[in-house]
Amino acid sequence: MLLNLFNKKNKPNPIFDVLGVDMHSHLLPGVDDGSKALDESINCLRALAQLGFSRTIITPHFQYPRFQNKEYDIERRYSEFCTQVKQAGVGIELAGIAGEYRIDTGFQARLDNPQFLKVGGRYVLVELSLHHQLMGVDEMLFDMQMKGYDVILAHPERYPYITLSSDRYERMKDAGILFQCNILSLSGFYGPDARQKAITLVDRGWSEFLGTDTHNEIYIKAMIEASHNRTVQRVLQRHQFLNNQL
Ligand SMILES: [Fe+2]
Repeated sequence: MLLNLFNKKNKPNPIFDVLGVDMHSHLLPGVDDGSKALDESINCLRALAQLGFSRTIITPHFQYPRFQNKEYDIERRYSEFCTQVKQAGVGIELAGIAGEYRIDTGFQARLDNPQFLKVGGRYVLVELSLHHQLMGVDEMLFDMQMKGYDVILAHPERYPYITLSSDRYERMKDAGILFQCNILSLSGFYGPDARQKAITLVDRGWSEFLGTDTHNEIYIKAMIEASHNRTVQRVLQRHQFLNNQL
């Protein structure tokens, strides 16, 4: 499906130039629940450029058993993708491939034999279940820290079982875990609960990074709307993020 992304009423506002780098997206076609085809990815990349991003890091899901991606295969596909995107010309630099690793039952084995594709060559981007709390998750996160990994937790605001009234966010921050809130959470795309948590985490200075988590053109349409959203604009004006250092 190719949506008509640009019309007069819905023009991308390039406010994300202050971030420079989008460090979370699913635009490598056909490897997860993100983009399904090259033309869809190219459309999305062009739109990200028009939203002000100059570089992008793509982060396919590594999630057992749903997306059993292998690092070597993702790297090979990414290299082909880079050639195709370069030929098409998209106005945004492809700045690397990483993974979004789900902390699940297969994760302990991954931890013992690490081949992580890291964001900016340094950070392991992890996510938790969006529905159910798995036993031992915090221990695995802290274990990663102990093993010397720099860990970024993707969209901490999207886990319904982690609430602002608990001390879990605080304990993760104390352990040195970095957070990446989704821009679309700030504009309400994932509902009021995620929105409130994202605003609070960002205002506390706990979200070192922001990401688009773009999967397809529906997310891009929402990103264009978000570029006119007052909360998103306020956040970008008031806070600094580390995206540019990637
Ligand atoms: Fe994601």
